[in-house]
Amino acid sequence: MLSGKRVLLIVGGGIAAYKCLELIRLLRARGAAVTPVMTRAAEEFVTPLSVSALAGEEVHSDLFDLTREAQMGHIQLSRVADLVVVAPATADLMGKMANGLANDLASTLLMATDTAVMIAPAMNVRMWEHPATRRNLKVLQADGVSVVGPDSGEMACGEFGEGRMAEPAAIVAAVEAAFSDGPLKGRRIVITSGPTHEPIDPVRYIANRSSGAQGTAIAAALRDLGAEVVFVTGPADVARPHGVSVIEVETARDMREAVLQALPADAAVFAAAVADWRVASESSSKIKKKAGALPVLEFAENPDILAEVSQLAEGRPGLVIGFAAETDDVITNATAKRIRKGCDWIVANDVSPATGIMGGSENAVVLISADGVEEWTRMSKTEVARRLADRITSALNS
Ligand code: CTP
Repeated sequence: MLSGKRVLLIVGGGIAAYKCLELIRLLRARGAAVTPVMTRAAEEFVTPLSVSALAGEEVHSDLFDLTREAQMGHIQLSRVADLVVVAPATADLMGKMANGLANDLASTLLMATDTAVMIAPAMNVRMWEHPATRRNLKVLQADGVSVVGPDSGEMACGEFGEGRMAEPAAIVAAVEAAFSDGPLKGRRIVITSGPTHEPIDPVRYIANRSSGAQGTAIAAALRDLGAEVVFVTGPADVARPHGVSVIEVETARDMREAVLQALPADAAVFAAAVADWRVASESSSKIKKKAGALPVLEFAENPDILAEVSQLAEGRPGLVIGFAAETDDVITNATAKRIRKGCDWIVANDVSPATGIMGGSENAVVLISADGVEEWTRMSKTEVARRLADRITSALNS
């Protein structure tokens, strides 16, 4: 529930603005009060009358409104809330936020606020993928802005891809997580998840069967206990968890960069199935078939992110947890892996095809620490995640 909480909702000017009506309804149904702010462009998509009717409060939109400024200045307005939510966050608003521009009421409030800020981006897929948006997103994440979505799917403009605003229910879940007072409140945890893709040429890559399901479930479980989660994911099949900072990467080297940038952290969980090798010399053009000559790929070893972070002389997270995907002698191999890499715990599992674990919804794990070996019965990946999150909580709070 969100009783007693006030959300300053900034509605940006995109077609997804219509979803803010449902968002306001859901926030109020959960007990939150909503102070709505609209950009001029937002008013082209949804009327201030509808927004204020649902919010039960007047809409603020003008930076130079002297009457209102006398009643409540824009600085004060930026401070009334427990959380600022920008939905939809257009490419323009994200650009203003990332670069510190303040030329209308919405962007001025975002500069003036001392409250946590959450954005729900929404834009055309090309705009979302544009290097400028990528840059702005990185800056905003580094500034501590939390990001919900966007989702993939068909867009209002007729194109298909990533850029649809997260559904209002998902935004509300993220808002509730932001207010969660769980036992991991104030703890920052980095998680790697999914496979990595190692390019061979512009159209081909080496990958593995990891779906990202276990890492995603762990991120959600830690978020539900109040942790600030930085989720570094390769190109995984499953939807990204809501209410966490998501950093998308492709290769093992990108993943290493993102993890090192995300530190310091209280704990780090390495659930990703990182490719051990990459193609030594990636071809910049598509490798063509040649009669009688098969291509020969030479490999180079990828950085071992878990080993590097476990052995950091400075800034090592207090608790470092690795996974071990094994097909034979699970406990012996995983025990040796824990020592070799220098992590505190290893969550080992048998990924032989017959177990159906890789890509499936269940997992049967063995938790290996300096204290010994603990075999967990087969259970859903969500349950494994919950149990692991509880163990992490006990370890960090002991
Ligand atoms: N890992 C990593 N970086 C790598 C390889 C693995 O961070 N380049 C992490 C994984 O995320 C996992 C752990 O190390 O937490 C073990 O991964 P696994 O694939 O089981 O072990 P490997 O080191 O690859 O050993 P091997 O393939 O020989 O079993």
